Amino acid sequence: MTRVFSGVKPTGHLTLGNYLGAMRQWAAEDQRRSDALFCVVDLHALTVDHDPARVRRLSRQAASLLLAAGLDPELCTVFVQSHVDEHARLSYVLECVATDGEMRRMIQYREKAARERERGGSVRLSLLTYPVLMAADILAYGTDDVPVGIDQTQHVELARDLAVRFNQRYGHTFVVPRATNPAVAARVMNLQEPASKMGKSDDVGPGIVYLLDEPDVVRKKVMRAVTDSGREVVYDRQARPGLANLLEILAACTGGEPAELAGGYDSYGALKKDTAEAVVEVLRPVQERHKELCADPGYVEGVLQEGAGKARAMARPTVDAAYRAIGLLPPVNAAR
Ligand code: AMP
Ligand code: TRP
Repeated sequence: MTRVFSGVKPTGHLTLGNYLGAMRQWAAEDQRRSDALFCVVDLHALTVDHDPARVRRLSRQAASLLLAAGLDPELCTVFVQSHVDEHARLSYVLECVATDGEMRRMIQYREKAARERERGGSVRLSLLTYPVLMAADILAYGTDDVPVGIDQTQHVELARDLAVRFNQRYGHTFVVPRATNPAVAARVMNLQEPASKMGKSDDVGPGIVYLLDEPDVVRKKVMRAVTDSGREVVYDRQARPGLANLLEILAACTGGEPAELAGGYDSYGALKKDTAEAVVEVLRPVQERHKELCADPGYVEGVLQEGAGKARAMARPTVDAAYRAIGLLPPVNAAR
């Protein structure tokens, strides 16, 4: 059976981009067709300036939202990255396979590091090595498919490269994974800045729809979305990015095609209104389930505890094999 792994970082409140670009497919398809693991990748949240209490809070919230979005612990494994030591164990070994140049070429690193330096801040070393930890997340489980938004494709390609290189040098150890993206909404853009991704880490948000935004807040944000000059409603990502974003969001929420949907509108206002209502309806059941889960924190903790146990058992043999293959002696009691 196909092995699927994906994750979400608790660096901010989850957004409509996370949901349409990733979580919805995990719940609707991936957990049913495959042997899937979904992870709150909390170690990744430490790569940028962080507040420990906030990371803890957001990690709990992300786990509840994964379940609220429809991940079913009977079908898949849901867990927290730092509960399974194998991720960090494998990451170090993969750092011995990756190169400095490769890391510095990563687009997300370049963008985030540049932004941090502009602010006069310092760049954590872990921001540079983060894609190696992500490769470890993926390779530890013998993952075939990694369902992610477009922004993560380059990182998954790095995981592929490291797997191939390791296998060539030290013998076949890792499955070579591939990224899969949703057909629409693989890159939901910020409603106020259609040239940038709707990213949760930015946090200030008239252009960001959060999964837990109240319906009226969602409506307001969508109605105020920046559109392009021009009058007729057409789907053109290059020339009309703001409009294209709304059409993609509407398509993702209603199951249509952006270009076809465009033909049904002769004003931006009507498109915005329908998009706002479609988003409100998509978020409604997630918010309702999230509320129920918040009332039962013991349930979520139990799921995470069981998930970590299952994940550990799955990752351990592969990570042990990588340690042996690269030349590390087995501990004495395991050597016999
Ligand atoms: P992150 O929030 O960076 O941890 O992302 C978790 C998942 O959501 C990844 O698969 C991302 O590719 C996806 N994702 C995040 N933001 C967006 C977005 N604006 N559009 C589409 N997918 C996204
Ligand atoms: N880097 C991913 C993001 O920012 C999150 C992530 C960490 C991930 N490890 C992963 C996604 C492994 C898929 C597989 O969205």
